[in-house]
Amino acid sequence: MSLRRTKIVATIGPASSSPEVLEQLILAGMDVARLNFSHGNADEHRARAVLIREIAARLNCHVALLGDLQGPKIRIARFIDKKIELQAGDPFCFSITHPRDAGNQQVVCIDYPDLVTDCRVGDELLLDDGRIVMQVERVSADALHCLVLVGGPLSDHKGINRRGGGLTAPALTEKDKQDIRLAAELDLDYLAVSFPRDAADMHLARRLCQEAQCNSWLVAKIERAEAVMNDEALDGLISASDAVMVARGDLAVEIGDAELVGIQKKIIAAARKQNKAVITATQMMESMIHSPMPTRAEVSDVANAALDYTDAVMLSAETAAGEYPVQAVAAMARVCLGAEKNPIMRRSGHRIGQQFERWDESIALAAMYTANHFPGVKAIIALTESGYTPLVMSRIRSPMPIYAFTSSPQTQARVALFRGVYTIPFDPSAIANSTVSQAAVEELVKRGIVETGDWVILTKGDSYHTVGGTNTMKLLHVGHILS
Ligand code: G6P
Repeated sequence: MSLRRTKIVATIGPASSSPEVLEQLILAGMDVARLNFSHGNADEHRARAVLIREIAARLNCHVALLGDLQGPKIRIARFIDKKIELQAGDPFCFSITHPRDAGNQQVVCIDYPDLVTDCRVGDELLLDDGRIVMQVERVSADALHCLVLVGGPLSDHKGINRRGGGLTAPALTEKDKQDIRLAAELDLDYLAVSFPRDAADMHLARRLCQEAQCNSWLVAKIERAEAVMNDEALDGLISASDAVMVARGDLAVEIGDAELVGIQKKIIAAARKQNKAVITATQMMESMIHSPMPTRAEVSDVANAALDYTDAVMLSAETAAGEYPVQAVAAMARVCLGAEKNPIMRRSGHRIGQQFERWDESIALAAMYTANHFPGVKAIIALTESGYTPLVMSRIRSPMPIYAFTSSPQTQARVALFRGVYTIPFDPSAIANSTVSQAAVEELVKRGIVETGDWVILTKGDSYHTVGGTNTMKLLHVGHILS
């Protein structure tokens, strides 16, 4: 059976917190478990993190943990009766002074004082992920007076976006700062930052993480129109992050759903070019919240993201609150494997005609070139400290499995996100220098991954446990004496 290269991120929630379901999710193919800090309390997330790690260890699997900060989503306050029903043509008002829990058919309070200065007459406002559309007709000192264009039910705390973006709340809230401390306590492998506008927001998140001694790799969620406004904005945000997420929910609301597919492809390519991992998220198997089977359109969406060479595809409510969490992961795994059979998955034009920037990057990419062109190569072994070497390797399209050999438990978990990368615990410094290659290849033989006569590529540095130290590539013939 071929190994699945596209990884699966599954969100953990009430439908998936029991030991039984978590075990089944892992066995069905969950590579990364997402703890969504927009829902649930700290104790619930603590309990889930502990359980996932325990079960993964028992099953001998490596599952990364990703925390997702709530971020500064701008929301309306509350209605007296929890909910109103709006019709096209109704007048409606957002006020920054109206009592917070006394919204009614004409007006609701909004917790965002800059709303009246940020918005102009003619702006379109979208509520509840775009289900309700309004146009600003008049701006007063403390309120926006709007006309409803598309009506529907509107209930407490629904989010608000502006078409074209530009509602600029700072990216990290007090709650996010608390959750960064929680991420540090739980030693999460990844931490996703919601609604970053630009690189500066990611730098701020990184500084707060350092202060809290949080070592998580930072994932920028690309979900604001400003972030994809032009190549400089997107590249700047990617370069300030360790990985990115195409957060299609809010992004589609801001830029319009019609442009989303093109932008998704662009973000995936841009992230890979900068040696960053990328997750494609939101509504991938949405109908599976209530159905055991995905629709054709969902199958096509997941397969296309895999063909675009995303590192991972993500499930949200499907696994957090759906009726078929395990089936959703299994369906995703099956669809990814199917897509990976397509021959375009093996042809790479990555970085052709471009200079490399670092020597370890040069060795990593040379290893992939060799793997794709030298017949008989069955696997790549990257001795790695932080996961960087296999990350760079996995930016290249290839059918070749990349094994991250590392003694660091955090790196073993972290590489679970990278496309086509699998981990094998291994400590080169515990072995005599002259037998490291032999011992590494034997690990693959022992697991039935390679056999006598196969070739294996191995990369490493001159000294062990040195981040950025990779300077050597070896071609090893299995069954021969290797040094
Ligand atoms: C392991 C190897 C070193 C190598 C390093 C690269 O520690 O033993 O020889 O220099 O990995 O780690 P990196 O984090 O840069 O992939």
